[in-house]
Amino acid sequence: MSLIEVNNISKSYRINKRPKGIPGMLANLFVPKYEMRQAVKEVSFQIEKGDMVGFIGPNGAGKSTTIKMLSGILYPDKGEIKVNGYVPYKQRKEYVGSIGVVFGQKSQLQWDLPVIDSFELLKAIYRIPEEKYRKNLDRFVQMLDMGNFLQQPVRQLSLGQRMRADIVAALLHSPEIVFFDEPTIGVDVVGKETIRNFIKELNAEDEVTMLFTTHDMQDIEKVCEKLIVIDKGEKIYDGSLLGIREKYGTTRQLDVEFAGIEHIAPIANVEMVELDELDGRKKRFVFENKQVQINDLMNFLLQNYRVRDISISEPEIEGIIRKIYNGEVITT
Ligand SMILES: Nc1ncnc2c1ncn2[C@@H]1O[C@H](COP(=O)(O)OP(=O)(O)OP(=O)(O)O)[C@@H](O)[C@H]1O
Ligand SMILES: [Mg+2]
Repeated sequence: MSLIEVNNISKSYRINKRPKGIPGMLANLFVPKYEMRQAVKEVSFQIEKGDMVGFIGPNGAGKSTTIKMLSGILYPDKGEIKVNGYVPYKQRKEYVGSIGVVFGQKSQLQWDLPVIDSFELLKAIYRIPEEKYRKNLDRFVQMLDMGNFLQQPVRQLSLGQRMRADIVAALLHSPEIVFFDEPTIGVDVVGKETIRNFIKELNAEDEVTMLFTTHDMQDIEKVCEKLIVIDKGEKIYDGSLLGIREKYGTTRQLDVEFAGIEHIAPIANVEMVELDELDGRKKRFVFENKQVQINDLMNFLLQNYRVRDISISEPEIEGIIRKIYNGEVITT
């Protein structure tokens, strides 16, 4: 049995459909009309202990709804979830001690209190032993470079500082499993890197199992080994990051440095891009996997031109994901 088992969960929200204008408002007051919107449709997946899984999909795909069900905030309408032996929405009290949740869009900290006071509060709520609390706090504060704003009230923090504080808050009780819902949203480049390294270290050293959503493909590329993609409430990909590249990354590129300025005759099915490097001696050849054998192309170039260096680059994950979101590749 996997650490996280999700079987066929579905969730719909009831949405109030208010007719337009004041008459509509009044009518709605007496006889409200509702319609159901299905946010998650029969989604299943498993996550093993120590896994680091990226959970991605376009806006409104159902990611946050799924995370809320996983963390026990919402009930699924159908299906079952089992995490670490618990049913999250039924055994919430016993369950919360083993998980941590970060909602990047919404702070869980006390707005008017200094960060450190919020942490102390959590220590009391989770009954974290003094020694463990100190050890975690010191380690996390150092790793996330938070020493200079621990005494500041949360409302005064910058977004990046607040996010780091929220991450620590979710981890002080040493949960085995952490759900991150957009933990890098609105954070600058350096801050993102700090958060990524922190997440990676925690996963590698402490074997914390993690599921996290993001719209930043760099997060995925740098942090996750596994990927679950959902769209319109349905799971459309579940596998390794490498696998998604192999399966859907159909374009390849070859960067070639020539010994001199070469005039390359057009090559069938290969697009040539001039790179503004090395005074025009470097060119990029872009082609579809299926149409062109990379070895043939390399041999052709080596035999006909004076080549100094060749490098193959992988298709960008970002481009592939964009294609999947746009429905340009069929995933199932
Ligand atoms: N409390 C709610 N009441 C009604 N509808 C909701 C509620 N929360 C979410 N929805 C709807 O459910 C669908 C899925 O929303 P969800 O927040 O899970 O998406 P998401 O994948 O997290 O998107 P994003 O990337 O924008 O955060 C959307 O159509 C959204 O409008
Ligand atoms: Mg969301």
